[in-house]
Amino acid sequence: MVFKVSLVSTSPIDGQKPGTSGLRKKVKVFKQPNYLQNFVQSTFNALTPAKVKGATLVVSGDGRYYSNDAVQVHYSSSKFWLYVVGFFFLFDMFLLKSCSCYSRLFIQIDFLSEQIIIKMAAANGVRRVWVGKNTLLSTPAVSAVIRERSGADGSKATGGFILTASHNPGGPTEVRPDFGIKYNMGNGGPAPESITDKIYENTKTIKEYPIAEDLPIVDISAIGVSSFEGPGGKFDVEVFDSADDYVKLMKSIFDFESIRKLLSSPKFSFCYDAMHGVAGAYAHRIFVEELGSQESSLLNCVPKEDFGGGHPDPNLTYAKELVARMGLGKSDTGVEPPEFGAAADGDADRNMILGKRFFVTPSDSVAIIAANAVGAIPYFSTGLKGVARSMPTSAALDVVAKSLNLKFFEVPTGWKFFGNLMDAGMCSVCGEESFGTGSDHIREKDGIWAVLAWLSILAHKNKETLDGDAELVTVEDIVRKHWATYGRHYYTRYDYENVDAGKAKELMEHLVKLQSSIPEVNKMVKGIRSDVSNVSSADEFEYKDPVDGSISKHQGIRYLFEDGSRLVFRLSGTGSEGATIRLYIEQYEKDASKTGRESHEALSPLVDVALKLSKMEEFTGRSAPTVIT
Ligand code: G6P
Ligand code: ZN
Repeated sequence: MVFKVSLVSTSPIDGQKPGTSGLRKKVKVFKQPNYLQNFVQSTFNALTPAKVKGATLVVSGDGRYYSNDAVQVHYSSSKFWLYVVGFFFLFDMFLLKSCSCYSRLFIQIDFLSEQIIIKMAAANGVRRVWVGKNTLLSTPAVSAVIRERSGADGSKATGGFILTASHNPGGPTEVRPDFGIKYNMGNGGPAPESITDKIYENTKTIKEYPIAEDLPIVDISAIGVSSFEGPGGKFDVEVFDSADDYVKLMKSIFDFESIRKLLSSPKFSFCYDAMHGVAGAYAHRIFVEELGSQESSLLNCVPKEDFGGGHPDPNLTYAKELVARMGLGKSDTGVEPPEFGAAADGDADRNMILGKRFFVTPSDSVAIIAANAVGAIPYFSTGLKGVARSMPTSAALDVVAKSLNLKFFEVPTGWKFFGNLMDAGMCSVCGEESFGTGSDHIREKDGIWAVLAWLSILAHKNKETLDGDAELVTVEDIVRKHWATYGRHYYTRYDYENVDAGKAKELMEHLVKLQSSIPEVNKMVKGIRSDVSNVSSADEFEYKDPVDGSISKHQGIRYLFEDGSRLVFRLSGTGSEGATIRLYIEQYEKDASKTGRESHEALSPLVDVALKLSKMEEFTGRSAPTVIT
């Protein structure tokens, strides 16, 4: 089949600056004529036409509402009727010779018939597009496919578009449905700032984009290759199994046999909640087919375009069903909770790890994985190259790094900073307080990898107990032992979502201004709580990348206390409406006899100080945060 390429005129649309993880907006914003097209073309232009020509691109995502339209539209009967109505409308307009109405209507009809990214890739001279079946690929799987997959002719991917708004809700009718798109490079990691800045600059000047309007719609529910011929040569769309490459990679990292033994032991029980995100496309294959877990251990594992109406963010607030099943809900279910529970976000790069009636903070999780990786996970058998965490993540990992004499890095929030270290062979394991954990097997955080890492540690610690009479070493045992060895970092995060952006900025400015006089700050601290130690220093976090020397400024406001406690304030880079203020509160307890306190009780003096020092209620009008994790 031969296709033609036409040039469509467009004009810049405001606000297309990619955030921490690409462009994330309300679905209705993405549905504006040319909105997605402008961004995709600006990305192609930033990558440079020479590199786009002949490229192999992965295009897929978490399957949220609008993904199919972005990749290509489903031809449904309702759309058929819209075409019919549109046709008669167009005919009428034509008779009336009303040109402006004509072109407006044309745009509307064009929108309905587009296979946006595939058609634009074809028109830009891309050689082939790889699409996961039904456009489903988790973010870590996209990274794995870019790095690992070889086409039948030996081709390798040059990069990929990931269609997701991660942990933000989706769907056509939900109150806050979001859509998103980001570009990942040939190393499998998110585009660096040098590229995203160029993309943004291009969105401000874009005038036209090429598109292959008549390219037929490909059946993305069937595995196979469709080949076409355009003015620039051959163009293929290959639909492939969403899980194959990823499962193969996981099997090369972990000892599946030992995890299988753990999961089939009557002493162990397991529950995995995909929150109706794309993790569902992997969960059955990995946990049930490969590792022999029960079907009933899977919760919400059917991917849905609206995540079943839920908020697909794996934390104690939003993963309600799992939290209840694990015995952490407000009321007792009367059923004995499983030994291990985990949840994923919409695109399956985040994870939450739970034990029976026990929550593992993400900051502790990465520290515990780092401390146990070498004996428990074959991939790390030769040792760790280094470890890293984002600045607001607790210092639990720092203590492990020091004790194991590992290279350690503190980077700004955002996974791309870890990617640079990994490409340079300086980091093996990393994590963030925002429920992200991962390793250098790919260049994204990886929710299922984190679950397999924990199952490997549990399998390793229970080598002797699974067969004999001895009691199971539980998640809680592992965490408490870790605290007793390394000390405990009591930790909590308060989120104030959808705050007036101007007020949020004022609060941050107020906190920066305060930093000019530490003695003054200490007077205020003592006035609020005399039992909190003195602030020793305060600053705005700035990072110099040790690999490329680039400097990232204004990465969060820090107040560091003499006893090792910290308060950090940051504005979220992933919201799509208003501003989200994040307040991170951390206190270090070295004394093993004091590591067993209730977290909220241990942190309450610092919370008091944080709220009053920042004048949180005064600036935001909020007496309580939206979410506490
Ligand atoms: C995404 C990134 C993470 C980052 C998180 C922060 O999930 O991939 O690396 O930690 O966003 O989000 P925030 O809303 O705090 O900017
Ligand atoms: Zn995510």
